[in-house]
Amino acid sequence: MMTIMEFSNVIAIDGPSGSGKSTLAKRLAAELNLLYIDTGSMYRALALKASEESLSTVSPPEEELKKFLAKINLRYLGNLSDKLIEIDGVDFTAKIRGHQVSELASNFSKITMVRDFLTDVQRKLASEKIVVMEGRDIGTVVFPNAFCKIFLSASSEVRAKRRWLELNERGQNIDLDVVLKDIEQRDHKDINRDTAPLKKAIDAHEIDSSDKDQEQVLALIKEIVKKTATEKGIDFI
Ligand code: DC
Repeated sequence: MMTIMEFSNVIAIDGPSGSGKSTLAKRLAAELNLLYIDTGSMYRALALKASEESLSTVSPPEEELKKFLAKINLRYLGNLSDKLIEIDGVDFTAKIRGHQVSELASNFSKITMVRDFLTDVQRKLASEKIVVMEGRDIGTVVFPNAFCKIFLSASSEVRAKRRWLELNERGQNIDLDVVLKDIEQRDHKDINRDTAPLKKAIDAHEIDSSDKDQEQVLALIKEIVKKTATEKGIDFI
């Protein structure tokens, strides 16, 4: 029987914006008592911090970006605390979900130096315990040997509707058409960027959630995780 040492201690959940990754990854981690890692929050917080320091998130001068990253102290707390993420001792949790920050993060995440910096942070977080990590490139680049990989998809219309409802609940009134266009633009950027583009890992299990509710998708994910863990001799459930 194989042991967990042959794989990374990671349940990787990748997929496009609005595919339901965050909610599902969070619920899965809570049910299995594992650390939940939302890598999008890292791209968001870092991009917002850059913008607060007047560093361009589109084409920052290389030396300035290097200096910026060298002095950043990013702490990810996840479900260990009410705070998800802190930069230089300041809680960024509440201010990273807005529409503008999505745009900043989408641009900043295209830059290789930014991706290398956060990939390193993400690898360190999973070095000791089993984690549920969600993002765009977890199963392909950050942890190509994650013991279990899920790729969540859904039509852009369904994803836009979900995102629109979420923004409305937060009091951000925005047209559904705008959200749809935004999702399609972000998909285009995520899929076509040179470094770590969004794509399904060949060994990932794909779940299309367009016509499924959250409970159904969670049940499917749990089934896949259990089956994979058993096949690979990993005993944590
Ligand atoms: O999942 P999210 O919408 O919070 O992600 C914010 C942005 O960060 C999004 O444009 C994609 C990018 N991202 C990424 O490139 N790689 C990741 N692992 C996670 C997010």
